[in-house]
Amino acid sequence: MTNKTIDLICQRRSIRSYKSTPLTSEQINEIIQAAQSAPSSNFLQCATIIRITDSEKRSELAHYSGDQSYIVQAPEFWVFCADFNRHFQIDATIPLEKAEQLLVGCIDTTLMAQNAVIAAQSLGLGTVYIGGLRNNIAKVTELLALPKYVLPLFGLCIGYPDQNPDIKPRLPKQLVFFENHYQPINHQLLAQYDSQMRDYYGHREINQKTNGWSDKIAETISKGQRDFVLNYLHKQGWITK
Ligand SMILES: Cc1cc2nc3c(=O)[nH]c(=O)nc-3n(C[C@H](O)[C@H](O)[C@H](O)COP(=O)(O)O)c2cc1C
Repeated sequence: MTNKTIDLICQRRSIRSYKSTPLTSEQINEIIQAAQSAPSSNFLQCATIIRITDSEKRSELAHYSGDQSYIVQAPEFWVFCADFNRHFQIDATIPLEKAEQLLVGCIDTTLMAQNAVIAAQSLGLGTVYIGGLRNNIAKVTELLALPKYVLPLFGLCIGYPDQNPDIKPRLPKQLVFFENHYQPINHQLLAQYDSQMRDYYGHREINQKTNGWSDKIAETISKGQRDFVLNYLHKQGWITK
């Protein structure tokens, strides 16, 4: 790789087992500062992080997320929320119900989170996102007392890695990086990638599988539907207009 930053980014992989060593407050502050340095649409700064230090709440959140044990094990667990409630408190007359607001909130929050991920990694820490939180999004909302216009998008476990998983191969560049116009899928390249993924899944240390990538897409997408999300969004004040 050409420099340390790119190398660091390309070496990232999700960590699902952590040492008990806590983070120092300096480390936490540095990660938050890096997270807040992310760009923000119209500088609206519409993201909020909730650090979960209450062990009972942590266990509840782990349960709501499908009993993912590393949520309890990780020294830090943060919930990233798209947040327009701050703006609502400043001026209750601003219209916040348009679909665009949802997009802006999700984009800002995700940019902030990924900055936190890379900052944590630069400190020798590992992370994993927890979208499983949305399995029980209404219960998470209640547990964290999230008001209207606040949307818990995902959690993030942070801590020193207690495992060393392989890097997961990505789609070939030609399938995701086009010039000037959209390109139909190149099936030959896809087949090569499937074979690479079959090899990766078949040889990794834990959770070995026999599938490739494209043969599991339909199953993966249909099992993650969370049909209740639209209703939930409406209740929280999102995309009602
Ligand atoms: C928004 C988001 C939510 C995710 N939710 C979970 C989760 O609930 N549990 C989990 O173990 N991994 C979760 N992941 C991690 C992905 O499974 C992982 O990033 C993907 O398989 C690629 O592997 P890598 O991160 O090791 O490169 C999530 C990732 C993202 C971006």
